[in-house]
Amino acid sequence: MTNQLPSFISPQCSPEELQLDQTLKLGVMASGSGTNFEALAQAIADKRLNAQIQVVIYNNPDAKVQQRAQRWNIPTVLINHRHYKKNREGLDQKIVEVLKQHEVEWVIMAGWMRIITPVLLNAFPNHVLNIHPSLLPSFKGVNGVEQALAAGVKVTGCTVHIASLEVDSGPIVMQAAVPILPDDTPDTLHARIQVQEHLIFPMAIALAAKKY
Ligand code: GAR
Repeated sequence: MTNQLPSFISPQCSPEELQLDQTLKLGVMASGSGTNFEALAQAIADKRLNAQIQVVIYNNPDAKVQQRAQRWNIPTVLINHRHYKKNREGLDQKIVEVLKQHEVEWVIMAGWMRIITPVLLNAFPNHVLNIHPSLLPSFKGVNGVEQALAAGVKVTGCTVHIASLEVDSGPIVMQAAVPILPDDTPDTLHARIQVQEHLIFPMAIALAAKKY
């Protein structure tokens, strides 16, 4: 069923257009399951993205992304935001330290559910990417999928963008549209959006690397 529904990705890029001369050094930040992390690891293994994941940073001790990264033999670092109460800058300082230690060039927020600060953005100008489960600028913040369902829109989707200080804002790199079905629940809709997220994230990273 998932694959029979129409979807639409923009911009459309050929594999040749997304070819990169240099291997990108990525640092992935994730808070939960990590399916987007895994889609990136798979795209790299399939040679659809010329990159290497140097480190996965996660903030929740029980985040499944940790086990996924371990299976791919990628180093993981837990930076628990609970130890940085009311000090977002302090948290980001630690994150920057770890990213620099691992020689990261591009920061990939793959389900990172914390608000970021200038400390992170200034350390990697124009090199922090975020993925969000809506067609931005609609439905920013947490529960982007639920917000779309509640609004009654008939099409939603996902967006990869350069991160800026405002949550889920910044120059858009790539989007995929996903139709909403009458009997959709947050889970069924999110599952179809994630199919598209896993498709566009590797392409958007290559596209961003060519442009910025
Ligand atoms: C993804 O759907 C991503 O778009 C969303 O979190 C999910 C993480 O899934 N991010 C946001 O809502 C950011 N505002 P994953 O852990 O399976 O990759």
